[in-house]
Amino acid sequence: MKIAMIGAGNVGASAAFLLLSHKIAKELVLLDINANLAKGKALDLAQSATLLDINAKIQGGDDYKMLKNADICVLTAGFARKDGQSRDELASKNASIVSLWASKIAKFAPKSVIIVVTNPLDVMVSVALKFSGFEKERVLGMAGELDSARLKYEIATHFGLKNSDVSAQMFGEHGQSMFALNASVRGRKISKNELLHLENQAKIGGAKFIALLGTSAFYAPSAGIFKMCKALKSKNGTELICSIGDENGVACAQILKFGKKIKIINAKLNAIKAKKYAQAYAAIKQNLLNLENLSHK
Ligand SMILES: NC(=O)c1ccc[n+]([C@@H]2O[C@H](COP(=O)([O-])OP(=O)(O)OC[C@H]3O[C@@H](n4cnc5c(N)ncnc54)[C@H](O)[C@@H]3O)[C@@H](O)[C@H]2O)c1
Repeated sequence: MKIAMIGAGNVGASAAFLLLSHKIAKELVLLDINANLAKGKALDLAQSATLLDINAKIQGGDDYKMLKNADICVLTAGFARKDGQSRDELASKNASIVSLWASKIAKFAPKSVIIVVTNPLDVMVSVALKFSGFEKERVLGMAGELDSARLKYEIATHFGLKNSDVSAQMFGEHGQSMFALNASVRGRKISKNELLHLENQAKIGGAKFIALLGTSAFYAPSAGIFKMCKALKSKNGTELICSIGDENGVACAQILKFGKKIKIINAKLNAIKAKKYAQAYAAIKQNLLNLENLSHK
């Protein structure tokens, strides 16, 4: 499988290392506006492969032609949040990067699946969908599994449990209006107040890194990318929460089943959760509209 990693920064390079070391990609290309960064990281990865006894072809650069025949194109190029910045504030800068790369992917890797990572995630999935012209099942956003992992982490840490004792999913937007779809732990109940507190902790999960590192997280996001690439490769029916566009071109979280084809599994939403989902969808749609108005000015 050939994977193109567009953006060789923190998230892109970390994901590339995971995909290489777990032998998901036989061929990896790292692309970045900073060609030397992409070449340097590709060289480092190639030498890691030697050390790990892995045969893989790894190259870096800034030439769009390197996308040729990629099975998966992961879009991590763009600006990451800085302290005090919301994901939405990145929208217009990152939209021009994502739209350009989406059109290049359509030209050089027309059969690929695009995994969008660049923020604001759901809006960028919508942009990539529009500019690639791909069907919606081939333009997916990585965030739902990361947000769910953050909720699981908060629950496990709070109750002093193992990860395997916790089951939890976050849904809706990769932003302020995300919400807990479900959460349970083995052997005890989580009260409404406990869940509310832990859900809020998961929601601000991304901001915690910006305060500590001055930039966003990258190991856990790269694990999210890895999970999606693995599911796309194995086609074994793994179910993951990803962002995907609808008939109006607006992307929002859905549960996807990665079989021979990608299918949407309808999430069970009671009236309260359906309202939260509608609010998340409306927030994404509004951000998309703001972006379109901005680009017409
Ligand atoms: N979806 C998620 O859950 C999630 C999680 C973490 C980060 N992110 C987002 O992923 C993106 C990347 O984060 P990062 O931490 O890797 O940032 P980073 O700054 O470390 O890397 C971004 C890379 O993109 C490159 N780049 C910029 N403009 C480009 C262009 N026009 N063409 C090609 N490359 C270009 C930069 O040179 C840089 O190497 C950010 O938008 C961030 O907010 C999303």
